[in-house]
Amino acid sequence: MRIKISLSQIREELSKMMKCFYIFKDKSSRSGREGRSAPELRNTSKSNSSASSRPTRSTGSSSMPRSIPEMYREKEHNSIVFSLSELREATNNFNKLLRLGEGGFGSVYKGKIRPPDGKGDPIVVAIKKLNTYGLQGHKEWVAEVQFLGVLEHPNLVKLLGYCAVDGERGIQRLLVYEYMPKKSLEDHLFNRTVPAIPWRTRLHIILGAAQGMAYLHEGLEVQVNTRLNCSCMNLKVIYRDFKSSNVLLDNNFIPKLSDFGLAREGPIGDRSHVSTAPVGTYGYAAPEYVTEGHLSTRSDIYSFGVVLYEILTGRRALERNRPAVEQKLLEWVKQFPADSRKFSMIIDPRLQNQYSLNAARRIAKLADSCLNKNARDRPTITQVVEVLQQAIKDTEEESSSNTIGPEPSSSRSKPVATDKQFNKLRVNAAMRQMSHAAQA
Ligand SMILES: Nc1ncnc2c1ncn2[C@@H]1O[C@H](COP(=O)(O)OP(=O)(O)OP(=O)(O)O)[C@@H](O)[C@H]1O
Ligand SMILES: [Mg+2]
Repeated sequence: MRIKISLSQIREELSKMMKCFYIFKDKSSRSGREGRSAPELRNTSKSNSSASSRPTRSTGSSSMPRSIPEMYREKEHNSIVFSLSELREATNNFNKLLRLGEGGFGSVYKGKIRPPDGKGDPIVVAIKKLNTYGLQGHKEWVAEVQFLGVLEHPNLVKLLGYCAVDGERGIQRLLVYEYMPKKSLEDHLFNRTVPAIPWRTRLHIILGAAQGMAYLHEGLEVQVNTRLNCSCMNLKVIYRDFKSSNVLLDNNFIPKLSDFGLAREGPIGDRSHVSTAPVGTYGYAAPEYVTEGHLSTRSDIYSFGVVLYEILTGRRALERNRPAVEQKLLEWVKQFPADSRKFSMIIDPRLQNQYSLNAARRIAKLADSCLNKNARDRPTITQVVEVLQQAIKDTEEESSSNTIGPEPSSSRSKPVATDKQFNKLRVNAAMRQMSHAAQA
């Protein structure tokens, strides 16, 4: 398939390629679920999403589970539609000093939203502003709003709302999330100016991330209506973007998965995968996905294996500034098998030997199985969770007998914004939208 692409899109693609790769290929072999619609979101004055003109599956008589866009429509009222001026005010006009980070699609700012009734402290949020706008950017923005509008789990980040403006001065797409004070796992593992996270905290972070992924792969029950009866089945969600920068951390280092712009509904029935153009981040994507476009929950497991090695070693999946043999993390660790004597040489020196060797070996073996070339031989996420729980047990047993120092008490400060505050905001947003509608 030939893709028409404008100059500004090329510029956008180039900037994205700093972190992401986009390989386009013929999608004619797509399964039936691939072309489902992404409905327009409220207050999106114009949408050029080709997806929005595609038909959706009917909810009433199909024996298929409802799709995420269909489920989103029922929960849409929970998302707050922010105005651009509100978000400008919240971030002091997107002040650089408030910038928390930058990804392939734009910058993330810390912001303060005024409480709906004007009383009490402002609510601290994180606002992601998409840099430029292309079809890929819009699709991801819609997917993010829909998936996070439907999915709910303690280990997934909360999306409070969004802003979409198609004005004379261009098109703006923004997302408003709960603020995660400790930023991302990436910031702690690789940024030498941030204190290293201790062993036990690493284990609890990766366990929480696995539990978030278990919810995506196995925990989402959806209703299936047929003419005769109504039953439930699991809807698999493939996350497609598991990496350390997408594991955000709250004040107590509780991890929450973020960035659902690439998420996809998994295959239905006997199918092992969906076929799609590979989109993702170098170093984390499964080989069968990169070469064949075969996407399955086991592709997420592969990415999980990469992050497990990042946690063990404190090294990035890809580090260009190291000697050639050390640049690719997965190649490098192969020289230090989990059962060998030299295994401990790969462990992050910033841990200062404060870790359980048994647990580390167990995790390296788990990582190796996640990285299996054959997707079917990789463990399920439930099996991953079990092994991680066992590694935590190893650590506790070892620490009661010797080497591992006590866990530094994490700052148990007040959460930045409570669920109660978020709900209050949502109720107010719904009222505000109703009064706008009444005035119109
Ligand atoms: N809700 C949030 N609260 C606090 N900090 C955040 C939040 N979301 C993102 N950040 C910070 O902003 C950084 C950039 O995030 P972003 O998701 O835009 O890019 P990325 O994940 O690094 O890369 P990519 O665009 O390839 O996914 C994160 O690494 C994190 O430090
Ligand atoms: Mg991210």
